[in-house]
Order: sequence, then C-alpha cells, then structure tokens
Amino acid sequence: MDLRRVFRPLTLRHKTLRNRLIFGAHTTNMAEGGLPGDRHLGYYLERVCGGAAMIAVEPVLVHR
Ligand SMILES: Cc1cc2nc3c(=O)[nH]c(=O)nc-3n(C[C@H](O)[C@H](O)[C@H](O)COP(=O)(O)O)c2cc1C
Repeated sequence: MDLRRVFRPLTLRHKTLRNRLIFGAHTTNMAEGGLPGDRHLGYYLERVCGGAAMIAVEPVLVHR
C-alpha cells in the first residue's frame, strides 16, 4: 500500500483537505450544560496540531 496517498490533498465539494487524515466522531463527555466549551476547543485543537485535516465532531445540542 502506498501511504503517501494519505498525505495528498482531497477535494470534497467546495473544500480541499490538505491531507486525508480524518478524526472520527466520538462522544467526549466534555459538554458543559450540554454545550461545547473550552475543553472541546483544546481537545480538537490538539488534533489539528497533530495533523488532522478534518474533524467530525460529536452530536451537539442546538438549544439548552
Ligand atoms: C455523531 C457521531 C458520534 C459518534 N460517537 C462515537 C463514540 O462515542 N464512540 C465510538 O466508538 N464511535 C462513535 N462514532 C462512530 C465513529 O466515528 C466511527 O465511525 C466508528 O468508530 C467506526 O470507525 P470506522 O468508520 O473507522 O470503522 C460516532 C459517529 C458519529 C457520526
């Protein structure tokens, strides 16, 4: 398998990802009052620093 492919850009409709590293959705249990907060921000930023080009986040409430 040619792993260099993982680091090639991928266009999904109007967005071009810089690589194909996708961080899959999972529940973090970090919600505060059912809403995303600073812990989420730090958690996902770490994944960006690690190279993830796309992050699928967990379900988020649209209303308290
Ligand atoms: C909104 C959403 C939330 C998810 N939450 C979890 C989770 O909490 N735990 C988990 O193992 N997988 C969760 N999944 C599924 C994973 O993202 C992933 O699809 C699954 O672990 C299978 O991995 P694979 O697609 O690489 O085979 C969630 C998926 C979505 C779309």
